[in-house]
Amino acid sequence: MYGALHHDFYLCLNNPHMFNGIFMILIIYAHPYPRHSHANQRLLDAVADVADLNVRSLYDLYPDFNINVAAEQRALEGADLIVLQHPMQWYNMPPLLKLWLDKVLEHGWAYGHEGTALHGKDFLWAVTTGGDDHHFDLGDHPGFDVLAQPIQATALYCGLNWQPCFAVHNTFACDEESLARSGERYRRLLLDYQARYQTAAEVAHG
Ligand SMILES: Cc1cc2nc3c(=O)[nH]c(=O)nc-3n(C[C@H](O)[C@H](O)[C@H](O)COP(=O)(O)O)c2cc1C
Repeated sequence: MYGALHHDFYLCLNNPHMFNGIFMILIIYAHPYPRHSHANQRLLDAVADVADLNVRSLYDLYPDFNINVAAEQRALEGADLIVLQHPMQWYNMPPLLKLWLDKVLEHGWAYGHEGTALHGKDFLWAVTTGGDDHHFDLGDHPGFDVLAQPIQATALYCGLNWQPCFAVHNTFACDEESLARSGERYRRLLLDYQARYQTAAEVAHG
């Protein structure tokens, strides 16, 4: 608890937005067929009216996979919480999101010499999966958590603060009611971030 508060306070001191009491959330959304989504669209609908939240739908922005790196970096620089939201595909992320990571997290910007643009920002992986628990029990490294490893390592390498991931499993069998519950859980989580940081900003102001 002390750790979390200390972390929030530290972020306030180092974050220009916090002195305005604004906590910007950026959702980098990668669904190959956004119009066919059920689970992810429900999550986005649930947070649509959250203030200071920006959604960049990569497959809408870049149907030709020609990513505007400068625009993406600008969006990331203005965010306090960066969310990567996508459906799981073959135990991994959709291809445009992987390309986005490869292009946008540049040396000298995200890592390496003077590559500090993302330092101290929070990072949340929000993923939906068709499979339930059994689906992740295959292979020599079973379990859902190991699938987070490449994303977590990437985030940490860029100086981001890894947050406990938000996962919606078993979407193949999800009814409207459970999707609505997941949407509410997502909304609550993002609102809690803003509330927590606004409190910390007030403390930092004195
Ligand atoms: C090409 C493809 C590969 C998929 N691979 C996986 C997978 O490895 N594990 C899993 O649990 N679900 C997998 N799924 C299911 C999707 O994750 C699931 O349909 C999605 O999370 C539902 O969200 P949506 O309604 O927003 O599309 C896959 C779906 C597609 C189309």
